[in-house]
Amino acid sequence: MKTLILSSKDVEKYVAPELAIKSVDYVFTQYGQGNIDMPPKIHIDMSRIGHESWCNAMPAYIVEKKTGGIKWIGGFGENQSMNLPYIMGIIVLTDPVNGHVKSIMDGRRISDLRTGASAAVFARYLAVKPLKGIIVVGAGVQGKAAIDCLLLEYPNDPIMIYDIDFEKAKQFRDNFSPELRKRVIPVDNLEDAARASKLIVLLTTAQQPFLKNEWVSTGATVLGMGTYQQAFEDFTLSADKVIPDNCAQAIGRGELKPLYKAGKISPENCYAEIGDIAAGKSAGRENDEERILGLPVGIGAHDVCIADYVYQSAVENQDGVWVELQ
Ligand SMILES: NC(=O)c1ccc[n+]([C@@H]2O[C@H](COP(=O)([O-])OP(=O)(O)OC[C@H]3O[C@@H](n4cnc5c(N)ncnc54)[C@H](O)[C@@H]3O)[C@@H](O)[C@H]2O)c1
Repeated sequence: MKTLILSSKDVEKYVAPELAIKSVDYVFTQYGQGNIDMPPKIHIDMSRIGHESWCNAMPAYIVEKKTGGIKWIGGFGENQSMNLPYIMGIIVLTDPVNGHVKSIMDGRRISDLRTGASAAVFARYLAVKPLKGIIVVGAGVQGKAAIDCLLLEYPNDPIMIYDIDFEKAKQFRDNFSPELRKRVIPVDNLEDAARASKLIVLLTTAQQPFLKNEWVSTGATVLGMGTYQQAFEDFTLSADKVIPDNCAQAIGRGELKPLYKAGKISPENCYAEIGDIAAGKSAGRENDEERILGLPVGIGAHDVCIADYVYQSAVENQDGVWVELQ
């Protein structure tokens, strides 16, 4: 039985922000309706190699699409010095009928875009309407994907970008077309920019919190998307609603992990999962005053859904290399 191997170049041809946003919203809705099987991701810490090094295994089965698969992906703290992206990984697609491995593909572009699209779809469900004032914190790979998707979701609005390294935030703008560049505004004062924002997207590699509770205004939505805690705990503990993509995962990662370990928060503190809101089972935002903490910590079903589309497109267009693996 042959397996289709798809390189990053093959994958790039078929993924774009529009597709990612559509797929992410579809998956949240299907998940909320109970049509996706997906255990919480498994995490392995490999930092005994001598620096930050971890991987997640993220399996999912999408019933309607008859598609099963797994993303195996991680973050590697020394990669910048090796001229490699921080995040590295692959996606494997399995035929649920017989276990045949249909495809193995580079997972980075799919993962980056579905992460960016999660920010846009969380904002769609949780942010005040009309939304004025958007800031993305972290001018890295995920920050770029988030802004690509937010520019589409909010086609008339500027988006501020902040990074601890202001030069990086300024250079970050060059990644966009001249037309879009006008809407990406580097800022060097996080406090002022956060206070002026109703959507604050945290996508940094910071390992210590930096977003202060008093900087988050009435009606603001904060999306905590990093691997470590980025907002101080008094914000998390005073937010009107905490809404993750997957509660079981979110308590062991990012914003909630240290609070859960210290016994300050439990799964009961999650108001709902975003899928419940997408599926119409839960209200989500109920007024313009609520301060909401959204936690798109990342679910494997997004990656599997987009990877299935990429696989089918590659088969149609005769891309990639078939290998007799099994
Ligand atoms: N939620 C998800 O689904 C998901 C998916 C992939 C990655 N991530 C996480 O997103 C984060 C960013 O990943 P990336 O691939 O963009 O990394 P990256 O290295 O490309 O970019 C990270 C950026 O954060 C900046 N930064 C670090 N500390 C900061 C601080 N205190 N204030 C402001 N900026 C700061 C760095 O200067 C850098 O520009 C990581 O924690 C990663 O694990 C989340």
